[in-house]
Amino acid sequence: MTVLSVSEVSKTYGATRALRGVSLDLAPGEVLGLIGANGAGKSTLIKVLSGATRASSGSVRLAGRPFEPSGPLDAQAAGVQTVHQNIDDGVVPGMTVAENLTLDGFGRGGSGWFVTRGRIRERARPVAADAGLLADLDAPVESLSPSGRQRVVIARALSRAPKVLILDEPTSTLSAAEADALLPRVRELAGDGVAVLYVSHRLSEIEALCDRVVVLRDGRARRTFTAPVDRHAVVAAMLGDLVPDTSTTGKAVDTSESVLTASGVTARPGGAPFDLRVRPGEILGVTGLVGSGKTELLEQFFGARPLLSGTLTLGGAPYRPKDPGAAIKAGVALVAEERAARAVVPGWSLRAHVSLPRLGAHTVAGVLSRRAERSSAEEVVRLLAVRTSGVEAAIETLSGGNQQKVVVGRWLTGSPRLLLLDEPFRGVDVGARADLGRVLRGRADGLAVLVASSDPEEVLELADRILVLHEGSLAGELRAADATAERLTGLMAGTPAREPS
Ligand SMILES: Nc1ncnc2c1ncn2[C@@H]1O[C@H](COP(=O)(O)OP(=O)(O)OP(=O)(O)O)[C@@H](O)[C@H]1O
Ligand SMILES: [Mg+2]
Repeated sequence: MTVLSVSEVSKTYGATRALRGVSLDLAPGEVLGLIGANGAGKSTLIKVLSGATRASSGSVRLAGRPFEPSGPLDAQAAGVQTVHQNIDDGVVPGMTVAENLTLDGFGRGGSGWFVTRGRIRERARPVAADAGLLADLDAPVESLSPSGRQRVVIARALSRAPKVLILDEPTSTLSAAEADALLPRVRELAGDGVAVLYVSHRLSEIEALCDRVVVLRDGRARRTFTAPVDRHAVVAAMLGDLVPDTSTTGKAVDTSESVLTASGVTARPGGAPFDLRVRPGEILGVTGLVGSGKTELLEQFFGARPLLSGTLTLGGAPYRPKDPGAAIKAGVALVAEERAARAVVPGWSLRAHVSLPRLGAHTVAGVLSRRAERSSAEEVVRLLAVRTSGVEAAIETLSGGNQQKVVVGRWLTGSPRLLLLDEPFRGVDVGARADLGRVLRGRADGLAVLVASSDPEEVLELADRILVLHEGSLAGELRAADATAERLTGLMAGTPAREPS
């Protein structure tokens, strides 16, 4: 049986052929994974199915009938609920959490009704409870963190008893624990007969959740796998012959000198002081649950918040940045969390985004050198294989993962001594994650990198050495070669597995 049938769907944006004749079927009760490299066309397909955009050609059938939604409301009314990759497409700012949870068809049919705050809260409560959302229902939705907003959007979609539920990277802003809570809910809905289309760059999620997996590459559906899927075959289908080489991970580093040393530092108030150092050419991973103090630690090293305790040295000299400007001057760069909210300026070109943090470097007698800007931007595109029509393209025409590559990659064209990366992989595909690792490692200038991520698998992919934080204190330090995801997860949760003796 088929509930949703996609037939030969194509979509072009100017000269970009985002989808080229994609066909797939979705059965009731099935979880179909949709995976592909950044820019492969996943979100474009989802925008067609959700009524956010129209296909250039091809057709879709829903429950046997032609399905050509005139807009998102139309698709929702027909039973297709979508959680978009860009969370802020799903929340209405200026409204409370409760209002966002109960938004009824975005204002349809509400006229003439006097709906009290109390009534809305009453309706929102079970929706929140069902999704395990503990947020203050009367808070403005924009006061929530990205993961909080994401959970509001997901909770609303789950509550609507759709025929087809579409989730575009629902977990990319969630912590590992929040993601772990979502997956059983999705399975449960499928158990009730909902057809689910699920996009993720986290292959372990795809393996745990999906009955079948369709791999998109360059706008085409290349292969379909049936569970249990073979991860290597899936990655090969995704990336073609560009399968990443991770053989350089965990290489030995020169242990004699340090770029950064920290003595007696504290991740967050209440945590126990600890020491750390990052050596030239080394990638040090810091992992821990949300709230374990990863971001706070990085922000202290960047001068974005005062040092809670202890002392730092950079390149052997005392280092105590009074603000981020001082840190940048000293050769320290931070790529902050929350791509969409803080780092991307809609309407600005890719080129402008590359020069944004370092306007000074491209200024000659106060005039920005367009040529220098262009060549930096082209370097980022080349280093990280950013998929774009060119460096003058507006940032919002790039796929989500490619926007993230620009935000991270722009720091690589300068010459920082210490690069601090906070959750750099949100929405970045497995091939690009490996590219980034190779670029960071291949530098001859001894760049030291500190990378924070709440996903133990990502840390394992990139880091040479890994620190695990638990509630603001150091729970363990491991060489990547000796670590496993299970061991890291145990340390993160404060329940380390017994060391083999
Ligand atoms: N509004 C737009 N204008 C021009 N090109 C666009 C637009 N939206 C998407 N594209 C292009 O279409 C292609 C597919 O993008 P899409 O967002 O579907 O990729 P994706 O598979 O979802 O990638 P990611 O994993 O990074 O989210 C990309 O080359 C992208 O640059
Ligand atoms: Mg996408």
